[in-house]
Amino acid sequence: MKMSGLDVLYKDLKEFLSKDEIQELYLSLFEPRKYFSIRLNEDLNKNIRHEVKKYINSLGFEVIDDPIFNELVLVKVLGKFDIKPEPHCKNVFVDKYTAEAVIQGIDVYPPGISKHDKGLRVGDNVNIFEINTKKFVGIGEVKENFFKRIKGKGEAIKTVASFWKIPNIKDSKYILNGYIYPQSRASVYTVYLLEPRENDKILDMCSAPGGKLTLICKKTRNNAKVYAFDKSKVRIEKLLRNIKAQRCRNVEIYRDDSRFIDMKYKFDVNKILIDAPCSATGVRPKVYLNLDEKSLKSIATYQRQFLKTAAKVLKKGIIVYSTCSITYEENEKNIKWFLKEFPEFSPRDIKPIFGEKDFEDIGIRILPNKFGDSGYYICVLEK
Ligand SMILES: C[S@@+](CC[C@H](N)C(=O)[O-])C[C@H]1O[C@@H](n2cnc3c(N)ncnc32)[C@H](O)[C@@H]1O
Repeated sequence: MKMSGLDVLYKDLKEFLSKDEIQELYLSLFEPRKYFSIRLNEDLNKNIRHEVKKYINSLGFEVIDDPIFNELVLVKVLGKFDIKPEPHCKNVFVDKYTAEAVIQGIDVYPPGISKHDKGLRVGDNVNIFEINTKKFVGIGEVKENFFKRIKGKGEAIKTVASFWKIPNIKDSKYILNGYIYPQSRASVYTVYLLEPRENDKILDMCSAPGGKLTLICKKTRNNAKVYAFDKSKVRIEKLLRNIKAQRCRNVEIYRDDSRFIDMKYKFDVNKILIDAPCSATGVRPKVYLNLDEKSLKSIATYQRQFLKTAAKVLKKGIIVYSTCSITYEENEKNIKWFLKEFPEFSPRDIKPIFGEKDFEDIGIRILPNKFGDSGYYICVLEK
């Protein structure tokens, strides 16, 4: 019989956490982060910072400065609201990814719609459900683009009632002009631990859509050379847009499989970032936890290939390895394997300013139930 997501998580973490702790961790995945965090780019002048905060206030949200990461502001997520499907409304079913956005008040864009009742018209209110679980996630209003389904031409359904609310800033002029970028605290912390400096040469092996890369550029005032890889065409397009909007320079972009960099390229770098593709078990809120043993093993094996290549490419310097996953298999276990395989590396001893020491005292774990953010793992390996 197939194990449930919770069973897989339990098996993975049972050596390190009690049953109650795993249960609490699991339940926290179904709620959003306590704060939605937004990076205000460091080169903004004070007037624009003030204007951005006022804009977020005007959307009905409280904004505070992050006490740890000075480029971030924290927006308190609103909810949980008590909403129920409207019996007289027709139904629309959306994919998991879209459902997890709707649950926080984000609108539905055309690719997310899986199926819907017949006879809908512009202006109708609809109940929105996730397609696999049939879980109710919110109520929306049908917009013209529901019928045209043109990508990039606005929302197909405007979410009008949801369990939680984060600011819908996707199309704001501040994002389009590159003044701000939504980014989790854990993601920002990863870049802090990479310690990018002017004149560094940095290889970003999994770079798109560029959340960390653009912060590297900001922190080094475009004076570090960055080699950015990603194998996904769609995500590289997003990366290009973000780089342009945020006026990042000194970045060379490669659409290629970075597991084979050592065979095809010769880079002389002193820092490598592996923001690895992962099971995304730490990302929240979830409608359900999609985790099975076989794919967990295979993603962990995949991640080892990036680590192995990075070890070959780096002559001297650091590798920062991060995932937005909470499993042992993808994090501590992979890093223990790496340190055994490549004894010339040692983990850097970090005193966490966010999160806590991991289960093996190697890197940092951010557990969503303890720190209110997404679940995350970061470690620094030094040669
Ligand atoms: C966690 S995301 C990176 C997020 C990014 N660092 C940021 O901060 O915005 C992982 C990325 O790895 C990319 N990826 C997956 N397999 C890859 C491979 N073999 N070579 C290069 N990139 C890969 C995915 O396309 C995805 O964009």
